[in-house]
Amino acid sequence: MTENLVDDITQSASLTLPDGQRADLPIVVGTEGERAIDISKLRAQTGYITLDDGYTNTGSCQSAITYIDGEAGILRYRGYPIEDIAKHCSFIEAAQLVIWGELPSPDQRSHFSDILTENSALPEDFRRHFAAFPPHAHPMSIMSALINALQSYDLPGLTIDSDEEFERVSATLMSKVRTIAAASYKSSIGEPIIYPRYDLRYVENFLHMMFSRPYRNFVPTAEATRALNLFLILHADHEQNCSTSTVRMVASGQANLYASVAAGVCALWGSLHGGANQAVIEMLDLILESGMSTKEYIAKVKDRSSGIKLMGFGHRVYRNFDPRSRILKDACDDLLNALNIDDPRLNIARELEEVALADDYFVSRRLYPNVDFYSGTILTALGIPPEMFTVIFAIGRTAGWIANWKEIHDNPASRIYRPRQIYVGPPQREWMNRFQREKATSQEFRVPDELRSDGGVVA
Ligand code: CMC
Repeated sequence: MTENLVDDITQSASLTLPDGQRADLPIVVGTEGERAIDISKLRAQTGYITLDDGYTNTGSCQSAITYIDGEAGILRYRGYPIEDIAKHCSFIEAAQLVIWGELPSPDQRSHFSDILTENSALPEDFRRHFAAFPPHAHPMSIMSALINALQSYDLPGLTIDSDEEFERVSATLMSKVRTIAAASYKSSIGEPIIYPRYDLRYVENFLHMMFSRPYRNFVPTAEATRALNLFLILHADHEQNCSTSTVRMVASGQANLYASVAAGVCALWGSLHGGANQAVIEMLDLILESGMSTKEYIAKVKDRSSGIKLMGFGHRVYRNFDPRSRILKDACDDLLNALNIDDPRLNIARELEEVALADDYFVSRRLYPNVDFYSGTILTALGIPPEMFTVIFAIGRTAGWIANWKEIHDNPASRIYRPRQIYVGPPQREWMNRFQREKATSQEFRVPDELRSDGGVVA
């Protein structure tokens, strides 16, 4: 099927410009038949660049990690449908698949598990960094700063020159990101930071570090562990989203893995991206507390002057449904039933979805629930506070960031990411010294005498 598609299409596109120049531009075809016009030589040939604010139609790279078909609601990691991965893998297996391209063998799995365990604790003197943040600092701020700081504790990790070293640094990062996340929560609530345990698996260990106390051990339920595993798998990668593109951008300048991932955490924080999960739960709380009906809230969203969005709705790529949202919605029902929780926010979310999907505003713009719409309800059921939601997204996405960093690092043809722009500022201006500038400015803004009440005296 793919081969036919490749054969069927023209191998280059020709572009005729207003000045009569013609450019022949190669067509690049992906595994699934998706097509791109390679414009990398366009400027050299014609003097023109392409302009695509917000990158709505720009492929920034070729990547072998994740495939999305936004029309069909398809998401695959390394060729495997997300539904299969979600059903059969642990988060760590999914992470290994995302990073190395194949599902791990039993030996690879246990080897990686061992290095994760060995690297789970933070250096003792590293722990003092948490105390340097003011009380109630946002955990995303702590996390981004401390992932970057980790590099100073791993000097050999600055240059990765073998597969073994890449595996060690990746495992260190994945393991410590989780420890930093839990520690940032503990420090934000003024509780002692909990050491990781060597007998627990990745997700249980995280829940232990989040909820155990020095005098009381927390043992997560199987349902809670399963739900968090699923959450992390669904967030492990998502091709060239805002944070992953940031990681690739930083990596392209040959920044180290820690610095690149720290930049990804910063990019993820925004409410249009990973911060949307926190924003969704805040929106549901607002609706509940205000006593507003879901119809009234939707009416506010539709009133463009309100500046309100239906958080957890819409996606640049998915135009019919987000497969992650469907999986999470079912998981949310299962978890709340298993834990016997009746969270009124889930009912509000369901109602909002129903009202929105029957409304032409959303239908005509092809806006559907995204991954963040139900994820906050799951995390709340696990006892995780809203300011930690994006942090947990970051733990999952670390796998994808590492995989994308590796693609840049391993590609000898990789070049620094350096987009161009169309300059729309002032044209060249004549230089004036300060006196001339002040004189010119006061003349420029001189109020006509007839309009002035002070008789022409400049204040
Ligand atoms: N509520 C109300 N209107 C919306 C929404 C929304 N959630 N999303 C998009 N629209 C409208 C938007 O105002 C625009 O209308 P018009 O054409 O009349 O100007 C139209 O739909 C197209 O939207 P857009 O903002 O041009 O689309 P985009 O591709 O630039 O933005 C988005 C995608 C996800 C940032 C946006 O849909 C949004 O802000 N959603 C809410 C935030 C959110 O849930 N973000 C999480 C995304 S999934 C997790 C991740 O991968 O980061």
